[in-house]
Amino acid sequence: MTPPAFTELLNHSWDILTEIATAKTALRIITIATVDRDNQPQACLVVLRAVDRHHQVLEFHTDADSLKCQSLTNNRKAQILIWQEMTAVQLRLSVEVSLRQDAKAAKLWQKVPSPSQIAYGKQPPTGLAIDGPFDYKTLSSEGKFVVAECLVTKIDYLSLKKDHFRAKFEKQSGWSGKWISP
Ligand SMILES: Cc1cc2nc3c(=O)[nH]c(=O)nc-3n(C[C@H](O)[C@H](O)[C@H](O)COP(=O)(O)O)c2cc1C
Repeated sequence: MTPPAFTELLNHSWDILTEIATAKTALRIITIATVDRDNQPQACLVVLRAVDRHHQVLEFHTDADSLKCQSLTNNRKAQILIWQEMTAVQLRLSVEVSLRQDAKAAKLWQKVPSPSQIAYGKQPPTGLAIDGPFDYKTLSSEGKFVVAECLVTKIDYLSLKKDHFRAKFEKQSGWSGKWISP
């Protein structure tokens, strides 16, 4: 198999991310893993809301009371995991997350449809123990709406299509790329 060019793989990574962010809702799901204050990795699904290829930033939205917000306040580093079945590519992205509750978040809140606003703000807050499964209220609270901006610092590209290969790209090396044994 002819070795692919690093630029091709890097472009493909961003094409995959852009495709996910612009897909129909059910396909916009990615996995993010954070590390909590007990050093326990915590993975969960979030909706990829936007991709800024130029600034290498991915965006998702979350509840200010979520464990991931607490974890990211303590440690900005996280990992995003993606599997694109059609091309048999796994992407593992190292990211540094900024949590925003500023003018940008206020502007985006205006675009959150009312049925989706219930994801932001619960009483008791998300993650706390309750007596029964429905012993909570939704607050639909703008004050709990957080825009998480994930600055991509590394991309690990694994292709399992034919001959397996793996490449790694790092922002601090100018995204030049190197081969890794898969
Ligand atoms: C399909 C799907 C999509 C989800 N999307 C989001 C999301 O965009 N933002 C979010 O905060 N949680 C989302 N969740 C819920 C999280 O996976 C997680 O359960 C919740 O945020 C609590 O996380 P915590 O442990 O950080 O408190 C989604 C769950 C599923 C199953």
